[in-house]
Amino acid sequence: MGKGSGYGKVILFNEHFVVYGIPSVASAINSTTVATVERVKGQLPAPSGKEGSMAGDGWVMEDERPANPGYKAEKFPQQKKSIELVFQAAGVDPRKNPLKILLGGDLIAVGGVGASAAVCVSVARALNEEFKLDFDDKKINEIAFIGDSAYAGTPSGIDNTASTYGGLLWFVKNLQGGPNTMEQLKIKEPLRIVMGNTLLTTNTEAAVAGVRKRKAGQPEKYEAIFAKARELAGKARAALDRYDVAEVGRLMDENHYLLQQIEVSHPMLDELVGIARKNGAAGAKMAGGGLGGYMVALTPEKATQEKVAAAMEKAGFKALKTTIGV
Ligand code: MEV
Repeated sequence: MGKGSGYGKVILFNEHFVVYGIPSVASAINSTTVATVERVKGQLPAPSGKEGSMAGDGWVMEDERPANPGYKAEKFPQQKKSIELVFQAAGVDPRKNPLKILLGGDLIAVGGVGASAAVCVSVARALNEEFKLDFDDKKINEIAFIGDSAYAGTPSGIDNTASTYGGLLWFVKNLQGGPNTMEQLKIKEPLRIVMGNTLLTTNTEAAVAGVRKRKAGQPEKYEAIFAKARELAGKARAALDRYDVAEVGRLMDENHYLLQQIEVSHPMLDELVGIARKNGAAGAKMAGGGLGGYMVALTPEKATQEKVAAAMEKAGFKALKTTIGV
């Protein structure tokens, strides 16, 4: 049996803008998806029929990850395609080696935490172990990028990169098709965050396509917003380097405003951002594809983290308390 895991992630600066080569900052979070892969001799078992269970040519998968209601059913076709792309990219043919896959771990399957990329990374690592493929992280990351394209259309690569390598990352997509820039950022101490969950299932591919369409329709407006996002990335990196937490928070607020302007936020995300700010967060913004899913609040003190999370839960949302920059 082979086993592997992939980190969940949060984008601290410039989701969506990253697709166009603008620098972004992401961090792995302390939750992972864990996959096990088992070779089956003889007849493959039928899928259990539980939400998220599925079968393909020579493989069957059970999905025991915690998830937002409806997420697994809605993502079924994308998930199936994604697993098949991972097999192909890893050079494993389940028709010759029938396989049973089990997904678990504590990362919640929902938009905004890199759940789809974490599945790709964990399955690629599990295949690597089971078939002794000798893949390094670079290869795992490449496979996960291909697998994640079933979810995100033309992903920037930030999700699979954060999920593979972990840590706090400065990421710039190479628009010429060459290798992306990825630098691990070191901060003095990990920072506490709260991730607020709208409980709405999102579609990153549709959100990315929406930005593309609006950008083509209103090039001047979008160019001005994109220029501000680029400038903000540099300031955010400098603030993280100096461990200027108040400034990092302020820039997160600004980033949320830019994301609202490109219309990828959602009234529930805006509400969560408001709750976070009212309860003392240093800054707050939507996180990931948007239009639902998650947001992130920077809450350096433990008491603030508790207060913000409690206020979100009281308002009917779900809150995940975690840290970045570990
Ligand atoms: C999704 O987590 C992040 C997006 O920027 C898409 C991408 O980078 O591929 C919205």
